[in-house]
Amino acid sequence: CGIVGYVGMRKAAPILLNGLKRLEYRGYDSAGLVTVAKSGSRRYRVVGRVQNLDKLVKGLDLPMTCGIAHTRWATHGKPNETNAHPHTDETQQFYVVHNGIIENHEKLRAGLEADGAHFHTETDTEVIVQLIAKFFDGSLEAAVEEALKHLEGTFGIAAVSAADPMKIVVARRGSPVIIGIGKDEMFVASDVSAIVQYTDQVIYMEDNELAVLTPGDYQMMSFDHKPIQRETFQIDWKVEDEGLNGFPHFMLKEIYDQPETVRNACRGRMNVSEGVAVLGGLQSKMDEIKNLRKLIIVSCGTSYHAGLIGRYIFEALTDLNVEVELASEFRYRKLRLDETTGVLAISQSGETIDTLAAIREARRKGALTIGLVNVVGSTIARETDCGVYCHAGPEIGVASTKIFVSQLVILNLMALLIGRYQMVSLNEGVSLLKALNRLPDQVSDILARASQIDELARIYQKFDNNLFIGRQTHAAVAMEGALKLKEISYIHAEAYAAGEMKHGPISLIDENFPTIALLANDASYDKMLSNIQEIRARSGPVLAITYEGDDQCARHCDDLFRVPQTHDLLQPILTTIPLQLFAYYCARYRGTEIDKPRNLAKSVTVE
Ligand code: G6P
Repeated sequence: CGIVGYVGMRKAAPILLNGLKRLEYRGYDSAGLVTVAKSGSRRYRVVGRVQNLDKLVKGLDLPMTCGIAHTRWATHGKPNETNAHPHTDETQQFYVVHNGIIENHEKLRAGLEADGAHFHTETDTEVIVQLIAKFFDGSLEAAVEEALKHLEGTFGIAAVSAADPMKIVVARRGSPVIIGIGKDEMFVASDVSAIVQYTDQVIYMEDNELAVLTPGDYQMMSFDHKPIQRETFQIDWKVEDEGLNGFPHFMLKEIYDQPETVRNACRGRMNVSEGVAVLGGLQSKMDEIKNLRKLIIVSCGTSYHAGLIGRYIFEALTDLNVEVELASEFRYRKLRLDETTGVLAISQSGETIDTLAAIREARRKGALTIGLVNVVGSTIARETDCGVYCHAGPEIGVASTKIFVSQLVILNLMALLIGRYQMVSLNEGVSLLKALNRLPDQVSDILARASQIDELARIYQKFDNNLFIGRQTHAAVAMEGALKLKEISYIHAEAYAAGEMKHGPISLIDENFPTIALLANDASYDKMLSNIQEIRARSGPVLAITYEGDDQCARHCDDLFRVPQTHDLLQPILTTIPLQLFAYYCARYRGTEIDKPRNLAKSVTVE
């Protein structure tokens, strides 16, 4: 979900709508805004996209200069207009937008109902605004403070009151809240992208903090009312960074950004002649890092797939024992961690709640926490002991593409940094870095042949089920390829390590169930070829993604796409690119909403 708020001298509604449009990738089941005034606040809510809200308020006279808005990804309650934020109390004096989940909302609701309150929605958020109304005694911030004492769970909230219409009260526990500081105006958002066009001066709120925003001022305090001073942070994203640049979709633009993404991930981080990586964000903890015996990688979604490939990279280059775990599972395990264990969180947004919780659990148990994050200043970036940024700019398409590639590049650099103190020779280091230098052109080479993938997608998009197979790093690439396809085209796809074919999935194979087989020039090649033959013997169509120079595979498959050869540890990057394009074109043929697939959100800040 996304929050945006404005208080200042300008009309609030257009600013809120602009912010919502930029936040829409975070969730878009419904959207709403309220502008407040003593004479009567105006609230508008719609099901579906922000553009519906835009249409609804277009032409209306909304002179109010304070308001809050929300784009929702439903957790409690159906995505209908009633359940859309902002929520209000019965007197329609108070309005709240909320990200997160109030775990004890049923109990609170029962208590409020027993006191005579009537609820109008199925949401957990309504209890917050009802509590604020209950505790209001002249001061909005005091009422919010009192209400927060009763809430269990996670929240990022913004509240306004018609009685005090030039003020927004915001609070955070578990869901991001960012204050934007302008001249005689203040902004609030759950994500900097909502306000970056208005100000580059922001403050990242921490958990258990509350702030009161008025046009010329803001005050921050802890939930127990201690004043807090925090330095402002200058954001370095430019609004132009977020444009489509002529591409029909952000996803395609971001796929085409990848040669540059690779360069940005490497820039200033390679000393080729010494065969070493230079990662400033890890420098302060290098002594601890050198003493690590075990590394546990935690992440979700596409970042988890990067982690699976990361395991091979760290195993190849370092002495570390490496585990990879879904963050949502890791945090509930009975963990035995100490300072010889590093926990590496991989996250594009730096806000994924499960990954954040995993890091907090790891810190509590004494492990060294490391972040690999794209969004500068995000919660995971701030809460880890050390880390590396992707520096890939904003990723807008819900399906992650360029950040995955960036994560893989940086995992190589991280492992090399450590490995050069261990088993990696100068020659090996130099050869990996030289291969990284060649990588952007190789990515461009694949992109230049995108029309071939388009043609393959035209053929394969007619199938409703697909299997992706590969071995070792390419088993993880298969998972990422299948995820991309299902998340944006809604075509069913499963991924298997090819060795598991005979233990189940082969029974699915027939002429309507194609396999996308990923081949690499390594020890697994012959076995992959056997798998392909087994599939073809059962009439399964096979599309192979293989490397340039493979002259055997073509005889055994129906269709084939070749990617340039590179260092073994970088090969998964090149194999991924055609799979991203394949998913993109399949989705385009199927006519789905590519940048904003149904039911998905870019940044998952609920558990
Ligand atoms: C969501 C996004 C995915 C992303 C995952 C993890 O599911 O739709 O694209 O891979 O969250 O997000 P993170 O920001 O932690 O990498």
